[in-house]
Amino acid sequence: MAKKTDANSGLSRMLTLEIARVTEAAAVAAAKLRGRGDEMAADQTAVDAMRRELNKLPIKGRIVIGEGERDEAPMLYIGEEVGTGDGPEVDIAVDPLEGTTICAKAEPNALAVVAFAERGSLLHAPDIYMDKIAIGPGYEPGVVDLDASPKDNLTALAKAKGVSVDNITACILDRPRHAKLIEGVRETGAAIRLIGDGDIAGVIHTANAAETGIDIYMGIGGAPEGVLAAGALRCIGGQMQARLYPMNDHHRKRVAEIGIEDIDRKYTMVEMASGDVLFAATGVTNGSMLRGVQFKSGGTATETVVMRAKTNTVRWIKTEHGAAKLS
Ligand code: FBP
Repeated sequence: MAKKTDANSGLSRMLTLEIARVTEAAAVAAAKLRGRGDEMAADQTAVDAMRRELNKLPIKGRIVIGEGERDEAPMLYIGEEVGTGDGPEVDIAVDPLEGTTICAKAEPNALAVVAFAERGSLLHAPDIYMDKIAIGPGYEPGVVDLDASPKDNLTALAKAKGVSVDNITACILDRPRHAKLIEGVRETGAAIRLIGDGDIAGVIHTANAAETGIDIYMGIGGAPEGVLAAGALRCIGGQMQARLYPMNDHHRKRVAEIGIEDIDRKYTMVEMASGDVLFAATGVTNGSMLRGVQFKSGGTATETVVMRAKTNTVRWIKTEHGAAKLS
């Protein structure tokens, strides 16, 4: 039987292993500063390590989602060229340490994250906020909508899942800005998994509700994290919508500078991450999806997930790094 997709088109499948090396290096670097209370240092060391690995790759890489000015990082800035310059053109979204605060406090679910995409296929989101809604695979398109009320969304989702609303769990970042959203969800009887940080993982968790217990992600988080999450969901299946959420004139200026004319545009998952996408995340601290970096005598162990949109392949990679590596 003919294959529905040509796995050799799109991004080179050889990059599947290379992308894992990139997040592994960032995770190991950040993990050395787990629980040290220094968010900036943990982020910086992850950025340095990720940049070093990216620059070893045989690609003409361009950072389109970078550290940006919100983290005030001088490296992996938007527009930076990375890689040896010899290979294919790749647009890259990075979050070398997703959950700087959770890493600094040694709490669960800090990740090193990167996405590779075909040139021009990632939304160039500025480093401001974004309103997001996401659900996993297996639902008719349009079951939930960013502009619908929590009640309408949760009722529709429960109906589509064949359960009552009180069997639905929404994942929401624990922020004062979500007070009204949380109240709206509570009124429906649905449960809420409040998370302190890390909404890329929040979105990814919707893709496997049976295991994670999370059916829907809702609320306002970082726009760069939104594009990375859309890239991941493209690979594993699901639905996502999002809209930039500027909080002030400076944010509006950033949107204009990046060339986005319609600030109110509602983006679908595919509009944020089209074409072939490779997504990788390595656990920094232990989490519900990935175990954090383990330092042992004689080596270091990491857990990474690598996904590809073209083939919907999801690889779970456990790596033992010898003592000479990643030091
Ligand atoms: P950092 O790793 O940059 O700290 O981001 C963590 C995070 O929780 C993201 O997952 C989320 O999108 C964003 O911060 C939310 O921003 P804020 O903390 O300002 O509400």
